[in-house]
Amino acid sequence: MKELSLHILDIMQNSIAANASLVQLTVVEDPEADTLSFTIEDNGKGMPPEMVTQVMNPFVTGRTTRRVGLGIPLLKAAAEQTGGNINLSSTLGEGTVISALFGYSHIDRQPLGDMAGTMLGLITSYEDIDFVYRHRVGKEEYTLSTKEMREILGDVSFSQPEVMLWLSEFLKENEAALYGGNDTESNH
Ligand SMILES: Nc1ncnc2c1ncn2[C@@H]1O[C@H](COP(=O)(O)OP(=O)(O)O)[C@@H](O)[C@H]1O
Ligand SMILES: [Mg+2]
Repeated sequence: MKELSLHILDIMQNSIAANASLVQLTVVEDPEADTLSFTIEDNGKGMPPEMVTQVMNPFVTGRTTRRVGLGIPLLKAAAEQTGGNINLSSTLGEGTVISALFGYSHIDRQPLGDMAGTMLGLITSYEDIDFVYRHRVGKEEYTLSTKEMREILGDVSFSQPEVMLWLSEFLKENEAALYGGNDTESNH
C-alpha cells in the first residue's frame, strides 16, 4: 500500500467486519517528536489471545488451517520500516484496539493520503455505525463525531447529496486547517 490512509481503511474494515457499532480513529502527527501515530478502537466481537498472536505473525504458526489475511502484517511492516511498531490488544466480546507508530520524517514513511475521502466513504457507506475521527497536527486538532452530527442534522441520511457535500467540505476544510489552511495541499 502506498498511503497510510489505505492501511487505516483496511483496519477500520476489520472493525466493521467484527460488527462494531462504534469505531474511533485518532491520528496524531507530532513533528517535534518526529512521530506519526494512529489508533483505531472498536467495540466489535474481539479476538481470543491466540488469534491476536496469529494475526500479528501469520507466517509463524503452521498448525492451523484458518486463513488469515495480510492487512495487519502489512501495517506492521510499514510501521517497522520507519523505525516504528504496532500494538494490538483485543478482548473477546468487548472489542479491539490497534495502534501504529511511524517515524514522521523517515524516508520510507508513506504519506498519510486522503483522510477526508477515507472518512467520507466510511461514514456514508456504513450509516448504522458511529465513527469518531480525531486528527491532530502539532497543536492543531479537530474531531468529527457522527453521533454529534446526527444530533445536529436530525433524521437525515449521510448519503443524501446535500449532507454528503456538507460533510465532504467540513472534512476538507478541517484537514486543510491542520496544515495551515492551504486547501490545495494534500498527502502529508
Ligand atoms: N478489529 C477486529 N476485531 C475482531 N477481529 C479482528 C479485528 N481485526 C482483525 N481481526 C481478525 O484478524 C484477521 C486478520 O486481519 P487482517 O490482517 O486485516 O486480514 P483480513 O482482514 O484480510 O482477514 C481478520 O480476518 C479477523 O478475523
Ligand atoms: Mg483486514
